[in-house]
Amino acid sequence: MEDNLPVNVREYQELAKKALPKMHYDYINGGAEDEYTLRENIAAYGRILLRPRVLIDVSKIDMSTTLLGYNMPSPIIVAPTGAHKLANPEGEVATARAAAACNTIMVLSFGSSCKIEEVASSCDAIRFYQLYVYRRRDVSATLVRRAESLGFKAIVLTVDTPVLGRREADIRNKMVAPRMANLEGLMSFDDDIDSKGGSKLERFAHETLDPSLSWKDVEWLKSITSLPILLKGIVTAEDARKAVEVGAAGVIVSNHGARQLDYAPPTISALEEVVKAVAGAVPVLVDGGVRRGTDVFKALALGATAVMVGRPVFYGLAARGEAGARHVIEMLNRELELAMALCGCRSVAEVTRRHVLTEGDRI
Ligand code: FNR
Repeated sequence: MEDNLPVNVREYQELAKKALPKMHYDYINGGAEDEYTLRENIAAYGRILLRPRVLIDVSKIDMSTTLLGYNMPSPIIVAPTGAHKLANPEGEVATARAAAACNTIMVLSFGSSCKIEEVASSCDAIRFYQLYVYRRRDVSATLVRRAESLGFKAIVLTVDTPVLGRREADIRNKMVAPRMANLEGLMSFDDDIDSKGGSKLERFAHETLDPSLSWKDVEWLKSITSLPILLKGIVTAEDARKAVEVGAAGVIVSNHGARQLDYAPPTISALEEVVKAVAGAVPVLVDGGVRRGTDVFKALALGATAVMVGRPVFYGLAARGEAGARHVIEMLNRELELAMALCGCRSVAEVTRRHVLTEGDRI
């Protein structure tokens, strides 16, 4: 096996598909409704071409960057995805170790299958905590305080999920809401929720998520934590400007991996408008559809400070546990390094808008 390691993210996806029960693979891989945005998140990267510059000494490539004052060896970080125990019995502990081995940031999901305490004590890493705001505000507030006291460095508030998107594969498969370790002791679970109709996952989300979530709740969140708050799930200039106004420390251009609103724009197409609206006030991150180092390069060229990867890490974890998750991050890093060298960029700062050609561009 070790001689035949996958050579790219797509090969990890194939292995994950073989390794997982169909219901779980569909949960990880699927998107909302027609899955138009799911396909477009990837296809839109394919429509951006590179404009390499030549005869530049690329014998040394420095991919390092800074996010909220933290130094990272590369701009690739781990997106928050729930339920890692579906992929591997060690769950988020394995992912955290993989991220730590790559010296990168892991954003731990609110829906993690390992306890925050367990993840925090498993290894040294810079960690951010992703938050859903529940109808039960006390539950969300308790988790923010727990994350803060355990040394998490930022809160990533997901703003694209006031209600759950319609993921038809999960409905068809009668997918059960994966156990959320951090809710144990805080909330009681109604195990018979399916009897009320819908997939168990949909019903659980309906009963917990607060659809009244609004801009004033960002103020509420600021009042209960001193950590910087990044808003995840913004795809318009209008909302990006508001995010800066309310004091967000960063904006994450995301459509939740196309699991929420189908026909939302592919994130790489929305990135530039957000970057322009934010105008350098705070860092802009992007996630969704990143499968290659060249994708990361394109995102940097269009103004992203960093990119997050979701499913690729999950595939690695499902295929080969901690080693697989680590290998996926390492492969993407090597691919980015190669893309930078072949485009004549020796540092992240040297990757510019002139290095890409989008459909809207005229040279
Ligand atoms: C997610 N995502 C997500 N986002 C979030 O804010 N909280 C969460 O708990 C989850 N859970 C989750 C589970 C699974 C299985 C997936 C695939 C995704 C969305 C995630 O953070 C990110 O936005 C996308 O995964 C990025 O797209 P790619 O990299 O998967 O294409």
